[in-house]
Amino acid sequence: MDKNRKWPYGIGLGTAELDKEQPEKMAELLEQAVLSGYRFLDTAYSYGTEEILGKALKALFARGVPRESLFIQTKFYPVMPYDGQSVVHQFQESLERLGLDDVDAYLIHQPVPRYSELDYAERNISVWNQMEKLVQAGKVRHIGVSNFLERHLLQIMDNCQITPEINQLEINPQFQQRGLADFCRSKGIAVQGWGSLSITEEAVKTVLQDIAGNYGVSRAQAALKWNLQMGNIPICSSRNILHLQENLNLDFTLSQEDMERIRQCNSATAHRTTWWYPRQQMY
Ligand SMILES: NC(=O)c1ccc[n+]([C@@H]2O[C@H](COP(=O)([O-])OP(=O)(O)OC[C@H]3O[C@@H](n4cnc5c(N)ncnc54)[C@H](OP(=O)(O)O)[C@@H]3O)[C@@H](O)[C@H]2O)c1
Repeated sequence: MDKNRKWPYGIGLGTAELDKEQPEKMAELLEQAVLSGYRFLDTAYSYGTEEILGKALKALFARGVPRESLFIQTKFYPVMPYDGQSVVHQFQESLERLGLDDVDAYLIHQPVPRYSELDYAERNISVWNQMEKLVQAGKVRHIGVSNFLERHLLQIMDNCQITPEINQLEINPQFQQRGLADFCRSKGIAVQGWGSLSITEEAVKTVLQDIAGNYGVSRAQAALKWNLQMGNIPICSSRNILHLQENLNLDFTLSQEDMERIRQCNSATAHRTTWWYPRQQMY
């Protein structure tokens, strides 16, 4: 990613929560969301929703929305044998499901398979080297990772030709991951925030509601704006088009005082991330 160029695609629209029983309706929702202003679309092989996104994209292209105006991102899921060859197969399937010839970004979904206690450094490196080949072949513009801690990133950075350009992390006011996000930025890695609206702590909800009132916005808008002002690119999702439209409306600036109030909401435990590597110490 060009560090000197402002990120032009705005907040992300997630697709993990789409209802797979209603593909037509969900494709229409995505179509409406893009027509409302979303430009960055996040999916993953493991979500099983790439086909729905593909359906929406087809309709959007037919309406004249240019392919290059959208940033489409999907992810490699670490399942065995979890090697370079599995990238080739999964990536090809993702392209077919999306109905595309290339994607803007391809990420490794998580640093180790679910519940694994093995050291996946070598496997991650071989997957990464294969992803670099996809860039060289013109199939992917940017490669990155998701849910990677500093040590996972360093393992790749010591063995790569292309440094990871993106790390997608769970980030919201109750789980801010400031140290990891700052490390990423110091290495030129863009930070995307998933779970940006998944706020479960009542005390945090109360603070956000109070702050949102200062600007005449919703709690969701305040949470997204906080994420943006922290320098992250938040991703949100909803099955409700009115919520999605509301989330695009972020034309206000949280004061330093309000940013500081949210800073105090950080908790080391209120998060969803560790179930990927439960026996390993995160920090
Ligand atoms: N890399 C990873 O490991 C990872 C993990 C999880 C998610 N993700 C990505 O991040 C995306 C977001 O996932 P998430 O589960 O973490 O979701 P989220 O965006 O944090 O939260 C979604 C929830 O927020 C609600 N919501 C959205 N806008 C709202 C508004 N304006 N007012 C009130 N409620 C609102 C939605 O409810 P309604 O439907 O009622 O609006 C929904 O229940 C996923 O789709 C996926 O693309 C990545």
